[in-house]
Amino acid sequence: MTTLPKSRQPELKTALPGPKSAEIMARDSQHLSTSYMRPYPFVPDHGEGVWLTDPDGNTMLDFFAGIAVSTTGYAHPHVVEAVTAQMKKFAHVCLTDYPQEITTSLAERLAAHIERPDEKWRVFFGNSGAEAVEAAIKLARNHTGRSHIISTLGSFHGRTYGAITLTGSKTKYKAGFGPLLPNVTHIPYPNPFRPPLGSTPETCGDAVLAHLELLFKTVIPSNEVAAFIIEPMQGEGGYIVPPAGFLTKLRQLADQHGFLLIYDEVQAGMGRTGKMFSFQQFIARSEECQPDIVTLAKGVASGLPISAMLAKESVMTWAPGSHGSTFGGNPVAAAAAHATLDLLEGVVKHPGCGESLMHNAAEVGGFILAELKKMQREFPFIGDVRGEGLFIGIEFVAPDGKADGKLRDAASMAMFERGLLNLDCGESVIRVSPPLILTREDAQTGLQIMREALRSLPAR
Ligand SMILES: Cc1ncc(COP(=O)(O)O)c(C=O)c1O
Repeated sequence: MTTLPKSRQPELKTALPGPKSAEIMARDSQHLSTSYMRPYPFVPDHGEGVWLTDPDGNTMLDFFAGIAVSTTGYAHPHVVEAVTAQMKKFAHVCLTDYPQEITTSLAERLAAHIERPDEKWRVFFGNSGAEAVEAAIKLARNHTGRSHIISTLGSFHGRTYGAITLTGSKTKYKAGFGPLLPNVTHIPYPNPFRPPLGSTPETCGDAVLAHLELLFKTVIPSNEVAAFIIEPMQGEGGYIVPPAGFLTKLRQLADQHGFLLIYDEVQAGMGRTGKMFSFQQFIARSEECQPDIVTLAKGVASGLPISAMLAKESVMTWAPGSHGSTFGGNPVAAAAAHATLDLLEGVVKHPGCGESLMHNAAEVGGFILAELKKMQREFPFIGDVRGEGLFIGIEFVAPDGKADGKLRDAASMAMFERGLLNLDCGESVIRVSPPLILTREDAQTGLQIMREALRSLPAR
């Protein structure tokens, strides 16, 4: 293991990329798929905690966690130990055919976070977010005997055919790939900062649901709708939190018309918002908005590939053999998931992170959000700062209030050049989604880099 920089500051020894990184990047550009984007010239070589180092010895502070994946940071000893122990037992014996204690107990553990006394849940394991979403679509259609799926604009659900059809964020994900899945309709996401359909921040949730009811009267027979899939807090679309009451009313509409409610928690779930699942933030505020199906991936296993589609027992009615996966529920990834849950739940404590990583996400996230709101006063081009826990979006605006993607890109690069790994989302948003082991001290370092980067932007 490497030694952390004593000052806990990024250490930039070369211009980025350094010579060793540049050599890897050149080979990468020759041999890997042309679909990969390479916006930032950084080549990770090894990591520890919230720090990533490239082969030239440049160490960066990580504020994006490989897109909200590295829940426990890099090379967490508890995760490494769990993975190593499972590797010594067996790495694979297909879960579709053979039950395994490690996945049985993982299913019990995940379900325990959502089950209610009168409502048991079951779990299907896959390898990626898209697979969890595909499983959710198939189950919803199979269970209801209906075909139509409603999704939201701005959403991201993955890259497989069903998942890109449901995705509503960018046409480039769909261009040239048709035909996609039939019977999918997108309606606006209730974004309080940019209220759709002529609504206000307060009324945007009602406006979206009124729009859906209009569609039910005019173009989509509601008795043909299998499910509504939604990110309870929208990730790729801009780290957006819907208004209070929206999910509750959506739940009521689902019950009224008999369709299933699927929450895609792939990005916002696994403790990131300070609750295990982001919809539980609304439940904690006394909203009755329990879903029928939940999809999980990304943060489940601190970087090992495993996903889960959880459904109420009354909904998971498909027949044996109707769905499966060779690698899904891989035991090594399951071991990493158990270790991740240990830290999220506080069964195992991480030094400096209080009673649990979920608690730390709420605590340090609250601190970052408050500091960013102060920064908003200094920088008028920050139009909005929003989020829950360590799921935070910073939206950049032009003087006329329109989204300013170019300025966001410049800000993101200025932060990167100062040693802060970050990632854009939406039209003009930078997401703050660090590992959940981020301490207040490291958060302060990141915020200071952000401040300096924003000050360096040309005056407007
Ligand atoms: C909400 C959401 N759902 C699904 C996915 C797809 O996950 P994966 O890339 O693991 O297939 C993503 C990925 O960003 C996501 O953010």
